[in-house]
Amino acid sequence: MNNIAEPKSGAGADPVTDAQLAAWRADFPILGTQVHGKPLAYLDNGATTQKPQVVIDAVSNYYATTNSNIHRGVHQLSELATAAYEEGRERVRSFIGAASVQEVILTHGTTESINLVANSWGGANLQAGDQVLITEMEHHSNIVPWQMVCERTGAQLVVIPINDAGEISLDDVSQLLCERTKLVAISHLSNALGSINPVKEVIELAHQVGALVLIDGAQAIAHIEVDVADLDCDFYAFSGHKIFGPTGTGVLYGKEALLETMPPWQGGGDMIRIVRFEKSTWNDLPYKFEAGTPNIAGGIGLGVALEYVTEVGLNNIAAHETRLLNYASEQLQQLPGLKLIGTARHRASIASFVMEQLHAHDLGTILDSEGIAIRAGHHCAMPVMQHYGVAATARASFAFYNTIEEVDRLIAGLKKAVEMFA
Ligand SMILES: Cc1ncc(COP(=O)(O)O)c(C=O)c1O
Repeated sequence: MNNIAEPKSGAGADPVTDAQLAAWRADFPILGTQVHGKPLAYLDNGATTQKPQVVIDAVSNYYATTNSNIHRGVHQLSELATAAYEEGRERVRSFIGAASVQEVILTHGTTESINLVANSWGGANLQAGDQVLITEMEHHSNIVPWQMVCERTGAQLVVIPINDAGEISLDDVSQLLCERTKLVAISHLSNALGSINPVKEVIELAHQVGALVLIDGAQAIAHIEVDVADLDCDFYAFSGHKIFGPTGTGVLYGKEALLETMPPWQGGGDMIRIVRFEKSTWNDLPYKFEAGTPNIAGGIGLGVALEYVTEVGLNNIAAHETRLLNYASEQLQQLPGLKLIGTARHRASIASFVMEQLHAHDLGTILDSEGIAIRAGHHCAMPVMQHYGVAATARASFAFYNTIEEVDRLIAGLKKAVEMFA
């Protein structure tokens, strides 16, 4: 079994110095706090990431100085709020390499972004006999919306299997793709296994049969450099809270020509041009897909978070996290009765595991008493749990601000749990 993760980026970056790491950590006030009287070791970044002071300040300053509704005001506060929110959108555009802000729809998160595509594009384009291809490792957010639209339209959901390392094979993808495949929806980085999927190759294969591709980038966005133009994906979805931004923020990137053909999926303010009782007409992109008052403070904070990540550098992030993940994987495997769930050759940030005779929830509770935050459960990926024949796993997920010492504390906490239950 090969347990050394090979980073997709960051391989050439210099190792992060202790001083650099300490400076990064100082940017996040919560990392200096205690839990149960112990220093917090936050290893639950796959669920949500912590927020740097610059993001907290941006949100707080917005409410203190600029709070107003956007896009329809004639007064100064509204103009300032609109400009700040639209600057957030521009920062998203440049972070993911989208061609224009028309391609950047601001949502409440990955879940909403995927539901938007399933309802709008899927509702208008899928019909009986069509297929939607997903993988066995998807998060429920990238399964259930497709199931729902397939049920409505008579299309069929087809699943690309994973092997026991937690990888898909491009041969399987090629075999399953056919002229009936209308869309492939695939995670860039699995939240349950840490596998990095070969999305660029999948996109190329899918396009050969005329299928569109949606990438669920919820996990990838904080760990892997994303360039939507280079990937040539049709849609890319992610959440702001998983990349050091506020909760309740998210992004759907879509190719402009494609978004132009899609009907709105939610009706309300801002998404219309003219409303008449007989018939209404729709606003231009991206507003056609943004009904109602958005999370204004969140959008501003998301822009600041992306700028912060750019300053840290995704290659530095990848290099440091690969070191953490490899060290954690080596140490974890030395624990008797521990099995890693997810040993893909290309993986990032996530160490998922089970321990003989110890339930993942008990592990989580014991670690919590040591000030160590991990996640225990099915991670909204029940089919993955089914594949491995487990009800739940314990998951440590790293961010660039985590340290080797925190991994050592995790291992010590697990040893303590084994002793307690021996
Ligand atoms: C791979 C993946 N997709 C989708 C989601 C859903 O993200 P959100 O709850 O922010 O909408 C998550 C959240 O954990 C995830 O890990």
